[in-house]
Amino acid sequence: LTEELDSVTSELHAVDIQIQELMERQQELLQKKSVLTKKINQCLEDSDAGTSNECDSSPAAWNKEDFPWSGKVKDALQNVFKLQKFRPLQLETINVTMAGKEVFLVMPTGGGKSLCYQLPALCSDEHVKWVHAEMVNKNSKLKLIYVTPEKIAKSKMFMSRLEKAYEARRFTRIAVDEVHCCSQWGHDFRPDYKALGILKRQFPNTSLIGLTATATNHVLKDAQKILCVEKCFTFTASFNRPNLYYEVRQKPSNTEDFIEDIVKLINGRYKGQSGIIYCFSQKDSEQVTVSLQNLGIHAGSYHANMEPEDKTKVHTRWSANELQVVVATVAFGMGIDKPDVRFVIHHSMSKSMENYYQESGRAGRDDMRADCILYYGFGDIFRVSSMVVMENVGQQKLYEMVSYCQNISKCRRVLIAQHFDEVWNSEACNKMCDNCCKDISFEKKNITEYCRDLIKILKQAEELNEKLTPLKLIDSWMGKGASKLRVAGVVAPVLPREDLEKIIAHFLLQQYLKEDYSFTAYATISYLKIGPKANLLNSEAHVITMQVKKRTQSNFKVETSEAYHSEQADKKREGKTSGNFQKSTNMLQQSGSKNTGAKKRKIDDA
Ligand SMILES: *[C@@H]1O[C@H](CO)[C@@H](O)[C@H](O)[C@H]1NC(C)=O
Ligand SMILES: *[C@@H]1O[C@H](CO)[C@@H](O)[C@H](O)[C@H]1NC(C)=O
Ligand SMILES: *[C@@H]1O[C@H](CO)[C@@H](O)[C@H](O)[C@H]1NC(C)=O
Ligand SMILES: *[C@@H]1O[C@H](CO)[C@@H](O)[C@H](O)[C@H]1NC(C)=O
Ligand SMILES: [Zn+2]
Repeated sequence: LTEELDSVTSELHAVDIQIQELMERQQELLQKKSVLTKKINQCLEDSDAGTSNECDSSPAAWNKEDFPWSGKVKDALQNVFKLQKFRPLQLETINVTMAGKEVFLVMPTGGGKSLCYQLPALCSDEHVKWVHAEMVNKNSKLKLIYVTPEKIAKSKMFMSRLEKAYEARRFTRIAVDEVHCCSQWGHDFRPDYKALGILKRQFPNTSLIGLTATATNHVLKDAQKILCVEKCFTFTASFNRPNLYYEVRQKPSNTEDFIEDIVKLINGRYKGQSGIIYCFSQKDSEQVTVSLQNLGIHAGSYHANMEPEDKTKVHTRWSANELQVVVATVAFGMGIDKPDVRFVIHHSMSKSMENYYQESGRAGRDDMRADCILYYGFGDIFRVSSMVVMENVGQQKLYEMVSYCQNISKCRRVLIAQHFDEVWNSEACNKMCDNCCKDISFEKKNITEYCRDLIKILKQAEELNEKLTPLKLIDSWMGKGASKLRVAGVVAPVLPREDLEKIIAHFLLQQYLKEDYSFTAYATISYLKIGPKANLLNSEAHVITMQVKKRTQSNFKVETSEAYHSEQADKKREGKTSGNFQKSTNMLQQSGSKNTGAKKRKIDDA
């Protein structure tokens, strides 16, 4: 009976999680629905009123935005034409033509049609004329011209002026920003950049500077060829941020424990300091915000589905240190330049290492020490995986992220550097990561038998026509859950659940297991299946190993990756011992084997 109760309890747990996921999805859909309904109603109203917005191309659409030319247009109206305001449809028409679009204006005589082309001529053509004239004027004060590649590709007039400027030795330097756009290997190829090759061919005495924030050597070589640059220096600033402390922690499975953990950090070592918590979903961000607020922390949430005013308000209050923490989705990114962000906590892992680097990199812009703490939870692998399933290399990128989390022996900086074609040695880390702070030794553990057992469970499920979620697989392994899914004689090792999860993640990365997605009308669900490398186990001699922490008396006290550094620091600051020590006993380390399914890969080459 006890066993049956266990099984029922754990199935209930599984059901709870599914309900939770469906409810999140429901929330999302409801929100979408309300946005769409609003839009549709707006369209109906507008068409009733004879005006309209994005639903068609009528003039009202041009009434919405603040265009860059607004000041100039008004100026010209008042100073040149000596008029106080526009007549109906004049400004709309001017806006359209200034935006470079075509427009037919039907207006009775005397309505003011001519203004609609005279005024733009003053505001734009005149300026271009002036620039063109200045380019060949020996006494001009003009020093810099900003020009789009499109213009160089298409305007003969501009090229002829450049030619004159060059002959007059007034044109000496070319700067190509976002130079990676030249290359089709780059992630942001723009065909017009190809035309820029003409510059060096035509004006060989100029010197060229190419600038970019992201490019592999491959992309740079390609760009060099396209720009017809024969020889060039390449300077690459390091991506290393020496003042950032990187740490991965086990994510507590219980929500309250997890919040407690975070609160302890915020009220402890980050007392009075500013930070960001990144969450997987909008729902997560709202829930975490409420939990933190209930515990007296000044937190605000930020995600894409909020009204622009609310977003601005949160950002502003946080910048002014009225809010200590922003609990956000990845929507919180652009334009964040607060220098004194002392911590960035990842409530769930990012979807790729590049994303993680960028998000965590919002800490410590002032070059003072700041912490980047990532909470690694087994379940998150599959949440993120279902989200990125449609992306080209989404799963591969995610597995690199998982591999980073699983790796608790190698310096975090070394691991991050691999994603940017860089080599940083672990001495350069200066003990600024959890793995470098550890003082433990590792051993290789033979885990072949575990893999065989898991495959037995999956095989049996297949025969029963059952699909196993990761949760069900672990349950069955641990002798829990539906009894028909268990296999006689399969007994999980006596290890904490987190360790079993890490073993399964290890098999997943090594492709002994694989994910299999199922698309319902409401959600994408990830199941685990036997992976392509499982047949290697047909050979009795095949051995799978995993690096584990060596079990000795002394390191039993030292404790895990996650706990070690932070607990030390907390103790110093708070002057007390943490009660969480025992909880995070974790004896496993991922093995040092070379073939972690996620191989190094560059964004630009993807
Ligand atoms: C046209 O653009 C101006 C300047 O950005 C803007 O203020 C105005 O609302 C727009 N007006 C119309 C009628 O489209
Ligand atoms: C370009 O450089 C060469 C060699 O220094 C020089 O002879 C030539 O006059 C220069 N031409 C222009 C337009 O600057
Ligand atoms: C590893 O474990 C498997 C299964 O228990 C066993 O057959 C094999 O001999 C072990 N190999 C080594 C190298 O210990
Ligand atoms: C940890 O990372 C290092 C460096 O990439 C790699 O050699 C090692 O195999 C990794 N360990 C695990 C357990 O993946
Ligand atoms: Zn390190």
